[in-house]
Amino acid sequence: MPGSNPIGVRLATISHYLPKRILSNADLEKMMDTSDDWIVQRTGVHRRHMCAEDESVRTMSLCVLKDLLRESGLPPEELDLLILATVGSSMACPSTACQMLCDLAEDPEFGPTNAGAFDMTAACSGFVYGVNLAHGLIRSGQCRNVAVIGTEHLTKMVEYSTRGRGTAILFGDGSGGALLRATDDPSKGLLAQSMHSDGTRWRDLFIPRSECDFPDGVANDDLPMGIMRMNGRAVFKFAVGTFGDLIAETLEKAGLSADDVDHYICHQSNIRILEAARDRFGIPPEKMPINIDRVGNTSAASVPILLSEQTKSGLIKEGDRVMMVAFGAGLTWTSSLWQL
Ligand code: UT7
Repeated sequence: MPGSNPIGVRLATISHYLPKRILSNADLEKMMDTSDDWIVQRTGVHRRHMCAEDESVRTMSLCVLKDLLRESGLPPEELDLLILATVGSSMACPSTACQMLCDLAEDPEFGPTNAGAFDMTAACSGFVYGVNLAHGLIRSGQCRNVAVIGTEHLTKMVEYSTRGRGTAILFGDGSGGALLRATDDPSKGLLAQSMHSDGTRWRDLFIPRSECDFPDGVANDDLPMGIMRMNGRAVFKFAVGTFGDLIAETLEKAGLSADDVDHYICHQSNIRILEAARDRFGIPPEKMPINIDRVGNTSAASVPILLSEQTKSGLIKEGDRVMMVAFGAGLTWTSSLWQL
């Protein structure tokens, strides 16, 4: 792809936000029939972050957006588009992205912008879908500056009781994002990407709003509306195969081997899923970093939080090749392989 168009794309600034409050496995042991041992062995999670009362998808995402603008020095009026990937928009309309731009306009440090803004629902794949879309818009000359943010407040969508333990142990809150910018260097940008879904598998992971949302033949259970239903075992099986196939597909599209990629930034779904992908390609642990132990599974925020941590600590550098990989509800799966 690079070279076919003179416009390159940079992942110019990357940032993340994690709520201060920590929810440990020991905390969960007091709320439900589970154990630290079970959670660590089955998921790799030791603790996760949890929003305080005054935190939300909007406040966490705004924090990240402000960081992106501050660190890049981009005036808000030069932002062309804001894509917010989340399953936690507070209203059907307006989008949380539009509300964030209202908050930005009312903050004297920033001010107004007429950037396009929308929320996108692709669950755990949302941030990577958004990055692929943003790249296309910049490479084709339609936009110059696009912010893509992935944010989830999943602790609100699980139940902290024994009947909710199948999901409550896995998920956490957080936000991460990237500012994608046009550059004159056409070698920078996507080497390959893929975006997939299998809608016939939607029943494996859903968050019902009403009785009508339940699939035919599946009776409502005891959990309230708004609480996630996940067939963990089915999603796990799907993910173990798909994760590896996705990496293979992306490498083939780019004409690269697994060794040619410097960093695999993968959705932190479950440590066992990540280890299976690592073993299949013989990827050394330092090339496939893990933070699920401290952060849990943060769905759309998972990839950008890890990308931000690795970039801020200097481990990911300009010139590196980075593959982002994610999968989730839908079922959806996606990848984005970058030449930084
Ligand atoms: O990121 C979005 C996409 N989602 C995912 O990637 C999630 C993929 N799935 C998973 O990560 C795993 O399926 C889970 C971590 C959710 C569950 O692990 P599992 O190894 O698949 O456990 P399971 O659901 O098959 O349950 C095994 C046993 C059951 O008991 P029995 O029937 O064998 O007696 C469960 O009742 O473990 C029991 N169990 C628990 N025990 C203690 C289920 N949850 C818990 C718990 N603590 N929290």
